[in-house]
Amino acid sequence: MGGRSIAGVRAFVAILLPDTVRAALGVEIERLRAFGRNVSWVAPDNLHVTLKFLGNVEPARLDDAVSALTVAAAEVAPFELAIVGLGAFPSPTRPRVLWAGLAAGADAAAKLARSVDSALAGHGFPPEDRPFAGHVTLGRVREPRGDPRLASALTAGASHRFGGLPVDRFALMRSELSSRGAHYSIVAAWPLSASPDPSTTTTR
Ligand code: 2AM
Repeated sequence: MGGRSIAGVRAFVAILLPDTVRAALGVEIERLRAFGRNVSWVAPDNLHVTLKFLGNVEPARLDDAVSALTVAAAEVAPFELAIVGLGAFPSPTRPRVLWAGLAAGADAAAKLARSVDSALAGHGFPPEDRPFAGHVTLGRVREPRGDPRLASALTAGASHRFGGLPVDRFALMRSELSSRGAHYSIVAAWPLSASPDPSTTTTR
């Protein structure tokens, strides 16, 4: 399999990260690499915050997704987001997904994810049944068997700071999988166009 799917587009909605943050995360991946031999690391160009995974979307349904996302973009104001700390799902001692976390701005990112999810649900895309746990996936463990060195490398990075970004847009992304890995491209992007909430702080 792999390459282009004639049945549709493998799609997800994401906050894209600036070069500065992806470079800082790339340095962290290089530090972690020695502790995770069974990990498939994400290429720095591909690092992002997933807001919603749509899976395979038929071409005729892409217009519905675009309409929904246009509505979501109008519901949320731009915000600042800080990328801080390392962790793992389901836990550092039984890691499957290694991630960098969201700090200041995480609540606003969750609000954006909820708006995206409910707008898409209104157009027939199945809603999430779990709360949004915002993160940047750094690597996926191929054979989780709880390496204590990896767990302590994650703990050592629990307060590492990878920088911040103004989140003033989000994107509908296309993912193409091949033997060389994932290739992501922007299908469409929307500016966040609600007025800022005066009670929102922007400290990092
Ligand atoms: P992740 O950041 O939680 O790993 C593109 O493939 C993005 O869609 C990935 O970054 C991943 O989010 C998410 N994704 C991929 N496959 C998924 C699946 N089966 N269920 C939920 N999210 C998925």
